[in-house]
Amino acid sequence: MTVTIVGSQLGDEGKGALVDLWGGEADVVVRYQGGDNAGHTVVEGGEEYALSLVPSGAVRGKVGVLGNGCVVNPRTLFDELDELRGKGLDPDVRVARRAHVILPYHRRLDGIEEEAKADSGVKVGTTGRGIGPTYEDKAGRRGVRIGDLLDPEVLRERLEYAVPQKRALIEDVYGLEAGEECDVEALHEEFAAVGERLREEGMTVDCGDFLHERREAGKNLMFEGAQGTSIDVDHGNYPYVTSSNPTAGAAAVGSGVGPTVTGRGEVVGVVKAYLSRVGEGPLPTELEGPDEELADFIREKGGEFGTVTGRPRRIGWLDVPMLRHASRANGFTGIAVNHVDVLAGLDEVHVGHAYDLDGETIETVPSTTEEWARCEPILREFEPWPEVDWADVAETGYEAIPDAAREYLGYAEEQVEAPVYAVGVGPDRAETVVRANPWE
Ligand code: IMP
Repeated sequence: MTVTIVGSQLGDEGKGALVDLWGGEADVVVRYQGGDNAGHTVVEGGEEYALSLVPSGAVRGKVGVLGNGCVVNPRTLFDELDELRGKGLDPDVRVARRAHVILPYHRRLDGIEEEAKADSGVKVGTTGRGIGPTYEDKAGRRGVRIGDLLDPEVLRERLEYAVPQKRALIEDVYGLEAGEECDVEALHEEFAAVGERLREEGMTVDCGDFLHERREAGKNLMFEGAQGTSIDVDHGNYPYVTSSNPTAGAAAVGSGVGPTVTGRGEVVGVVKAYLSRVGEGPLPTELEGPDEELADFIREKGGEFGTVTGRPRRIGWLDVPMLRHASRANGFTGIAVNHVDVLAGLDEVHVGHAYDLDGETIETVPSTTEEWARCEPILREFEPWPEVDWADVAETGYEAIPDAAREYLGYAEEQVEAPVYAVGVGPDRAETVVRANPWE
């Protein structure tokens, strides 16, 4: 069986907590898109591990797979593995030979393009990890794949084709000086050695075959989406998006199992009880101006600072058109709502129930970002809920959640047309109220 965990909003919904909670029953945890732009903190045995590439399941004795839809920076991968091993863990991580490699010139170009865009005010606010340029090369058929690192001749061929183009881009288009990132010899030496290490450690797989065999053996697969639906390159607010598909359909494409496999399983959308966003782009329910103080309060209480970049996140009320859109794009079978405790004790709680777009009421997200930026939220007020002993609530169960918060959750499940499977009521993993187990 499969369970796919996806972000319903703009990333940072707390997917890791659910992967932790339900990953225990999975044998394999697969990432199917993105790269080291994702950030998750795993707490195990009192130790805290900040990971951006290695699937969190790998810290807990599961097989962690980076699927063909991922972009892999081997430097990050080995740094994370070495750190985990240094702390006495023995993570089992496999990497798809069809996954693309983030090379140093991708990171350089990510930075250069963001700077160039900043001058014209259209900066995306990327994580600077080279994600976009790597996916560009993948689609442009000039990428280097993990499998290419295993054959020094092929690697040289790929680099000799791609690198002069990058050099020309940096020097002739941007008028900058190319550096080490465009030195074919240096790149070849470093990345052939990466290939050698991947081979020695037996880490590369044909992802589709690997997962097929596990399924045949009756194993449970969990697909761990990174980022969220509203920054999906197809379904998000383009161009303020990441360059991959965090939505559930990509779990099949980005790993090599069929959509009939993931489609027969569960798709759980993770929802934060309010909104946060790193990076640029419209945010109709954003708390700003006179609400700045409230935004600061939620930001501090919810720890809303980027895991990868440390940037303070922008804060807004729950945006329900965004959730309806996410539910349709992903086909949720259930949702998990996190950070319900963060909103406790406020004087007011609102949600953006719908939008007013040029005088018309709409209930999902418009397809152009310009229209989305013109949307005014039509707010709905909810009765605030009090601070309570959330650890106690987590232990007692759903009925112990304050009435007003349950009202809020009931409204959310009605709007996305999928039941609440779990409610996050505290930063500790144990502080989750579980209502249903997607594996059952
Ligand atoms: P990129 O993925 O680094 O290209 O960044 C593109 C956009 O996606 C930017 O707005 C980033 O802030 C956002 N983004 C990328 N990864 C994450 C994530 O894991 N959480 C939240 N936002 C992200």
